[in-house]
Amino acid sequence: MADKKATVTCPGETAVELDVLKGTLGQDVIDIRSLGSHGVFTFDPGFTSTASCESKITFIDGDEGILLHRGFPIDQLATHSSYLEVSYILLYGEKPTPQEFEEFKTTVTRHTMIHEQITRLFHGFRRDSHPMAVLCGVTGALAAFYHDSLDVNNPRHREIAAFRLLSKMPTVAAMCYKYSLGQPFVYPRNNLSYAGNFLHMMFSTPCEEYVVNPVLERAMDRILILHADHEQNASTSTVRTAGSSGANPFACIAAGIASLWGPAHGGANEACLKMLEEINRKEHIPEFLRRAKDKNDSFRLMGFGHRVYKNYDPRATVMRETCHEVLKELGMKDDLLEVAMELEHIALHDPYFIERKLYPNVDFYSGIILKAMGIPSSMFTVIFAMARTVGWIAHWNEMHDDGIKIARPRQLYTGYTRRDFTSNLDK
Ligand code: SDX
Repeated sequence: MADKKATVTCPGETAVELDVLKGTLGQDVIDIRSLGSHGVFTFDPGFTSTASCESKITFIDGDEGILLHRGFPIDQLATHSSYLEVSYILLYGEKPTPQEFEEFKTTVTRHTMIHEQITRLFHGFRRDSHPMAVLCGVTGALAAFYHDSLDVNNPRHREIAAFRLLSKMPTVAAMCYKYSLGQPFVYPRNNLSYAGNFLHMMFSTPCEEYVVNPVLERAMDRILILHADHEQNASTSTVRTAGSSGANPFACIAAGIASLWGPAHGGANEACLKMLEEINRKEHIPEFLRRAKDKNDSFRLMGFGHRVYKNYDPRATVMRETCHEVLKELGMKDDLLEVAMELEHIALHDPYFIERKLYPNVDFYSGIILKAMGIPSSMFTVIFAMARTVGWIAHWNEMHDDGIKIARPRQLYTGYTRRDFTSNLDK
């Protein structure tokens, strides 16, 4: 909907009028699609001021620290909902009725097993491979099992792919962990919750019964909710870009996993825990803050800062509460939590962080919880990827529903002008 105009005067051209489009929430956008025909492109590396698409799934207000999934605030969802109910809301846009939810849950539960041949795929990896490398490889390989029967232009085929991915990611994720330990893979159990089943596949062994701790089960489910979706972040944009060519959804999700792995994105939770371990004691904090502010030092405070949030990441607030609950339940006193709390306190009063509006993000506390649950830091981003799979699928589906247009950005070229070629090599 455009009821306002923006005027751009391009060099040597008359003024160009562009529509200003208004959403239901958030910034207006200038529709620049016709600008190319006037001989100029816009330039925005990292897309700091560029809307790549229209979406109805998630809204973030970075200044106010607001995160809505289909209009529902994240703190209410984390407190009153479950990951599977949030998944339904993200995928279908509305809350499920009890019957709709029962059908959804049953379908997800009944697709958790993976093709037995895929277990052999793992044996191509070294045991000490990073679990994200294994997850990326195995997820991409699922495209080989679900390709011929999948027409991405068929909404029902897309829904089946969504169920397969939502159902199988916990199984594959837990297998990545078991493989790294040299322990046997554990089959899913249909009588357990989504989060409980994941903990079962991660920690049970053939030697003794594993009983899911309900507090840890709830904490894991909440962690999955907090990581489910986050608008057009780097990995979601990667999935949209990969999917814009009509690519197989399993291959697109593998591309999203690759993007999420980076320490600037989903890899920050693993990097944050490593940083806290490196800091180790409160008295070491000033030196790390000095390094974080030093332009000549590549070190950054992992778990701090965000492209969009210039206020508290609302997920970090819920994550911190969960952190205290889990440590209390486990009767654990974690020195790293003490370091994290002190680091947060000092950074939030430091002019460098205040001026740049750098606050703790979702990754700041998640690592401490996961470590307390007995999960190694190498598995932190695997769990992030498992949770974000539903968000990636929701955006991939929305792109198809809206009619896909291949993503093909332009560039500012600063290379050689035309020059003739003669080889320097002896003929
Ligand atoms: C996630 O996009 C999403 O929604 C992502 C995510 C999701 O759910 O999908 O929310 C998940 O990725 C959370 C972010 C996790 N990453 C980290 O915690 C890594 C540490 N954070 C930084 O790398 C950084 O804050 C980013 C990458 C998150 C954001 O970087 P931007 O928006 O590109 O900002 P910038 O690099 O331009 O920084 C602006 C200024 C710079 O200083 P000046 O040049 O202005 O002097 O802030 C400084 C930066 O040096 N800065 C930091 C800092 N983050 C930014 N300085 C020290 N420590 C930091 N963490």
